[in-house]
Amino acid sequence: MNTPVSKTMGQQSGRRSWAEPWKIKMVEPLAVTTREHREKALAEAGFNTFLLKSEDVYIDLLTDSGTSAMSDRQWAGMMLGDEAYAGSRNFYHLESAIQRFYGYKHIVPTHQGRGAEHLISRTVIKPGQLIPGNMYFTTTRVHQELSGGIFHDVIIDQAHDPANPHPFKGNIDLDKVQALIDRHGAKSIAYISVAGTVNMAGGQPVSMANIRALRALCNTHGIKVYLDATRMVENAWFIQQREEGYAGKSVAQILKEFCSYTDVAWMSAKKDSLVNIGGWLAVNDWDLFEELRNLVVVYEGLHTYGGLAGRDLEAMAIGIEESVQDDHVRSRIGQVQYLGDLLTAWGIPIVQPVGGHAIFLDARAFYPHLKQIEFPAQTLAAELYLDSGIRAMERGIASAGRDAKTGDHHYPKLELTRLTIPRRVYTQAHMDVVAESVKAVWDARASARGLDMVYEPKYLRFFQARFERL
Ligand code: F0G
Repeated sequence: MNTPVSKTMGQQSGRRSWAEPWKIKMVEPLAVTTREHREKALAEAGFNTFLLKSEDVYIDLLTDSGTSAMSDRQWAGMMLGDEAYAGSRNFYHLESAIQRFYGYKHIVPTHQGRGAEHLISRTVIKPGQLIPGNMYFTTTRVHQELSGGIFHDVIIDQAHDPANPHPFKGNIDLDKVQALIDRHGAKSIAYISVAGTVNMAGGQPVSMANIRALRALCNTHGIKVYLDATRMVENAWFIQQREEGYAGKSVAQILKEFCSYTDVAWMSAKKDSLVNIGGWLAVNDWDLFEELRNLVVVYEGLHTYGGLAGRDLEAMAIGIEESVQDDHVRSRIGQVQYLGDLLTAWGIPIVQPVGGHAIFLDARAFYPHLKQIEFPAQTLAAELYLDSGIRAMERGIASAGRDAKTGDHHYPKLELTRLTIPRRVYTQAHMDVVAESVKAVWDARASARGLDMVYEPKYLRFFQARFERL
């Protein structure tokens, strides 16, 4: 893969390009639609890209979740699914892959990430307890709140500024954690909720120095550190690229070291692990494991399948191993960087530095004439779809929802539209087409009108809300 505008990771002086460490064996046709067709489809979808039919989409950058292309090895593994109700051999493969690459002792499979978030939140959070975290994630926070917890954002301030080039914008601000401890006492904190490559901040990583320091602080106060490991492999790549002392270590080594500073992890395997469905919860403490292993039977399925088929467990076990290969991560994040480089060269405002799984367009900078309550990021996603059939996702005020106590809108500092890149799915040419469409929408920015939310569901409103043009 060549990059015309700036040096890409792994490229030295002289011209030595890198390319994807795979070739394509099976293809899926894409449909190109007319603008007229898209106008109609978007109006029917209430200007919400989640409500579009996938058939009406050309390049689908809604999410990197469950949208990966599986390898021939994973598909072969699907044929080896042991569909026994209990004790499927594929569960043991998964368990040993997680133990080997993430390092936790006890594993509970779940149908996807939020299944794991549900179980852990119900089990450990006492009503009224605080949960400091490095920026919220939608499903994570809703489960914490439904269990009576109160989320507190303790990410460093730089994370809220899209233009700030800090290399580890996912870092936890230890002073903010200390202030919560001083004010409320360590016992009032259920756990620290750390996410690798912080999704809502733009896919921004946490440094090893930061997690180590957090661990030390928590040890002095007897507080647990929990990890949302959903995109932790991508976080490990950034540590290798950016943090002193890690250039010579493999992604797999870095991943395991990072996890070793945490007590519990939950996972949406639909991202890093290259599968279309799956998740897990992993803990080191036996008593906690016993409780979770018991509870999973109530909500997901027996503790050796957790709502998944044996074949899904096998695909996940193989996907984990493929996901930690340095060549794979280089090309995955390299593709995101390629798109980011094109947009940056054209002066289009995106979150900097470019993150792991997506390009985040700064919708405030696109539409300074729109108030936040006119949904700039939702508007931008709509305009992009109308221009070319590319589907993006709002990550601004609609996603942020309302304050659980006061019922007011959260007004997040970041008002972003996410172009999320599925793993091993699109080519460099697709990225060129995406960049050109974003440029067209950028050039037409002055004429964009905002949106009004005309239907608002109670939970995670962004998935199903409907809008009308102002
Ligand atoms: N944690 C993070 C950081 C996530 O990004 C997601 C899902 C979850 C947990 C929940 O996992 O979807 O398997 O239940 N993120 C998707 C996205 C939906 O598009 O970013 P899940």
